[in-house]
Amino acid sequence: MIGTHDFRLLVNPRHGTPGVVVLPEGGYRRARAEITAWPGYAPTPLVELPDAAAAAGVARVAWKDESARFGLRSFKALGGAYAAFKLLQGELARREVTPHAASAALEAGEFREAARRITVTCATDGNHGRSVAWGAHRFGAGCVIFVHETVSQGRRDAIARWGAEIREVPGNYDDAVRAAQRTAEAEGWFVVSDTSYPGYTEVPRDVMQGYRLMAEEALDQMGEAPTHVFVPGGVGGVAAAVAVQLRAMRGTAPRLIVAEPEKAACLLESAAAGEAVTVPGELDTVMAGLACGEPSLLAWQELERSAFAFTAVPDAAVPEAMKAMAVRGVEAGESAVAGLIALLLAAREEEGRAALGLGPDSRVLIFGTEGATDAELYARLTT
Ligand SMILES: Cc1ncc(COP(=O)(O)O)c(C=O)c1O
Repeated sequence: MIGTHDFRLLVNPRHGTPGVVVLPEGGYRRARAEITAWPGYAPTPLVELPDAAAAAGVARVAWKDESARFGLRSFKALGGAYAAFKLLQGELARREVTPHAASAALEAGEFREAARRITVTCATDGNHGRSVAWGAHRFGAGCVIFVHETVSQGRRDAIARWGAEIREVPGNYDDAVRAAQRTAEAEGWFVVSDTSYPGYTEVPRDVMQGYRLMAEEALDQMGEAPTHVFVPGGVGGVAAAVAVQLRAMRGTAPRLIVAEPEKAACLLESAAAGEAVTVPGELDTVMAGLACGEPSLLAWQELERSAFAFTAVPDAAVPEAMKAMAVRGVEAGESAVAGLIALLLAAREEEGRAALGLGPDSRVLIFGTEGATDAELYARLTT
């Protein structure tokens, strides 16, 4: 399905060591109950990829297709919007407007005046900001989204469509994270970030609890348990959420493999260093959603012990993989194909197969985390 490329694979030396509970079950039950009650909720499809299974020499490859999630075209719709709702609900209670605003009441505009005075903000490379803007729009809050210079116009437009103000800042994603935080402090706004750092964990925890729903759906849809699970890594939030849900539903058996861009492999580098480290530079990659140089604190606490391996894959393989999916009728965006690329490249070499324990009986689950979130770029890369 794709040609020959260099890539990096690191088996996690600390895999299986005990750690802290990052995402408590009660929080997930609340997230699940809330999100599954939203209008338009439906599990996204699980697609079988028999030719990927043949190419990788495994029994089965299943692709969790997030291209149609709530019409936002990525799994991120589950996280930012839910965390924005929770934040708004909490703030309305704190301001003694209403002790427990239901999402339906907010959507119906019941607390419109009070909600409008609450502004949520975040940094984004596209999908998270879109989710937060969508949530703010639905529940009636103000919204300002920070983007760095290379976030495409298509992605900015998709955010602005929900009425959010877009502010550009110089530098990379991590600079935008800091700008959002600084401005929020100065203006009295509320940061709804998908990444966590010391002193800021409550909101990103809600974001990650929302992501777990994608993993629960996929594991239910798959029937028999996967032996290997491939998931893309940005700050690590979605990989950690998948790890937690795998453990909750399947024990410790499936091997979780994180796939990052070679120029923004902060999770792989952290595993190599034995502690969370930052990858400097422009983090220049076509996989825009994965262009992150700093692991999320919570995500790292989970992944440092539960990820089986970390991989770094090249941009050059992305258009090939996207095209291969497109001809099979599956809309897979740039960040979505990272896991597929990691599987195909690892399975090609005896060393990679042995390191990951891939064989003819392996059942692989890949999280295809986005569709054509930037329509113009998608068209360019797939034609
Ligand atoms: C499509 C897509 N996949 C994967 C990720 C990675 O998620 P995380 O940053 O939680 O690791 C992102 C992040 O924006 C994304 O947009």
